Amino acid sequence: MKTDRGKHSARPAPSRELAELRARLAEAEETLRAIRGGEVDAVVVAGKQGPRVFTLEGAEHAYRVLIECMNEGALILAADGVMLYANQSFARMVKRPLEQVLGSSFHRVLSVTNQAVLRPLLKRTVKSGSKIQALLHAGDGSQMPAHISIRPLAKNGAKSATFGIVVTDMTEARRNEEMLRALTHRVVQAQEAERRLVALELHDHITQRLCAVLARWAALANKLPAHEKASRGEVMKLSEMLGQTVDEVQRIARNLRPTVLDELGLVPALRATCTEFADRTGVSLKLACKPLSARLPAEVELTLYRILQKALENVEKHARARHVMVQLTKQRDILQLTIKDDGIGFDPDQPPASRKKKRNFGLLRMRERATYVGGTLKVKSVRRAGTEIEVRIPLPPPARAKRSRSKAR
Ligand SMILES: Nc1ncnc2c1ncn2[C@@H]1O[C@H](COP(=O)(O)OP(=O)(O)O)[C@@H](O)[C@H]1O
Ligand SMILES: [Mg+2]
Repeated sequence: MKTDRGKHSARPAPSRELAELRARLAEAEETLRAIRGGEVDAVVVAGKQGPRVFTLEGAEHAYRVLIECMNEGALILAADGVMLYANQSFARMVKRPLEQVLGSSFHRVLSVTNQAVLRPLLKRTVKSGSKIQALLHAGDGSQMPAHISIRPLAKNGAKSATFGIVVTDMTEARRNEEMLRALTHRVVQAQEAERRLVALELHDHITQRLCAVLARWAALANKLPAHEKASRGEVMKLSEMLGQTVDEVQRIARNLRPTVLDELGLVPALRATCTEFADRTGVSLKLACKPLSARLPAEVELTLYRILQKALENVEKHARARHVMVQLTKQRDILQLTIKDDGIGFDPDQPPASRKKKRNFGLLRMRERATYVGGTLKVKSVRRAGTEIEVRIPLPPPARAKRSRSKAR
């Protein structure tokens, strides 16, 4: 190549070439970065037969098809919640055209409470990501329960963080859950009705008959001549055994359906259960509860009574506790029952199946029962430090209470 190196040339040719090469290198590096970052769909290369187009579809076609065809909503969010990308499924979920969805804020389809949960998650860039349950507000005013999985995406040279979001429609799952809950509620109600019937039978028939036998037996014993000492001793022993049987049958009937609960209300029933527990097991039990100003709905009373029964059963079976504290408090419209022991404790997060081979339903059923009456149940337990069961039940306004009772206890 001939070069003109005349004296009027301002820059020497090699440095111009170097600058050109540097610029081309920078351009090539930028192109490579864009290809790696997925910002390039095709590359145009100038050739002898004119420009040739190499699409990069092959590399990402499968991903695109997958994302576009999947049932879940897929989104890419900027840190401020703006939807940079959304698939058709998400547009269908929120019942808005895709063009309206793109560029708008994801927060707009969430309730204020859900927004408050999401915002900090879009600030954190924890690699493991996060999951939340939310209600999506669709364009037609309807709402859809959804499971939202959030994961920060690799920056790939982008200036600010972006997040990959997968939205799963939980309508069907929620409906099934509700049906299952309603069904188990019906089972519990049927079980309670059956228990009440068996308790009545035991009380009205078996106990009555046993008491009649006991009375006749005592009369017979009195008729025995005084010198028949051995026979009198045997008869007294038998009537004692009969008396114990009556007590046992009454205890079973009381456990099946405590008449004290129906007749006297929650506080006397809790007190009777606690006294019976302490007397029978020898574990010291302190009960702190003030009389309530009014009777509660029957189902709430029965729920709290059954939860206490089951919790004390667990203390007896598993805790090896020396002290138990039972507390019933009412703060505004929330009734709270706490059962706390100082026993060996356990790990409530560990799945029950791995704790033991058999399935444990006690705690699960206690929680379910609290849920039926709109309440919650928390289990706090630390190994070697004891266990605390906390039940909180919101009370309905007095006018809406299902059962009106004249006497307040
Ligand atoms: N108060 C407690 N103290 C120690 N461990 C407990 C207590 N309550 C429950 N647990 C543990 O939790 C498990 C599950 O309890 P639960 O669901 O009532 O089933 P179950 O009593 O039939 O084993 C128990 O097996 C026991 O290991
Ligand atoms: Mg149990």
